Amino acid sequence: MDIDFFRADILDYRLEREFDVIFCSGVLHYLPEGSRGEVLGNWKRHTTAGGVNALNVFVEKPFIPKPPDHEPEVRQNWRSGELFGHYHDWRFERCEEVIFDCNSSGVPHKHCMDTLIAVKEKGV
Ligand SMILES: C[S@@+](CC[C@H](N)C(=O)[O-])C[C@H]1O[C@@H](n2cnc3c(N)ncnc32)[C@H](O)[C@@H]1O
Repeated sequence: MDIDFFRADILDYRLEREFDVIFCSGVLHYLPEGSRGEVLGNWKRHTTAGGVNALNVFVEKPFIPKPPDHEPEVRQNWRSGELFGHYHDWRFERCEEVIFDCNSSGVPHKHCMDTLIAVKEKGV
């Protein structure tokens, strides 16, 4: 199998051919609110019938303080459940929200993350 590795900016990179699997972990929080529908719509349209999108995103919870390594200039807050709404017309294979401990930057803190594995059924 050949794997084509390359570097791109999620803000302006758009798919131009179809894929069976689209995986994105720990990066969606760099997408501003206004571009989320457009970027995820591009990924959904370029997923083959029966294909999968496996994604996660950090989400805000009012009872979890901002992490010590918060990057307000680039980090865009997602609402809890927002990711799932973008895939309302796909079948959810897995859909969960988890709060977990983190020690990045050496200061113990918590994150909340929404994870979705969704399948594009035929005819969607
Ligand atoms: C929290 S790390 C996640 C790394 C890895 N995907 C994972 O799940 O462990 C965030 C990653 O997003 C990348 N990143 C930051 N801004 C980005 C952008 N505009 N486009 C694409 N990737 C970006 C960073 O370089 C970093 O590797």
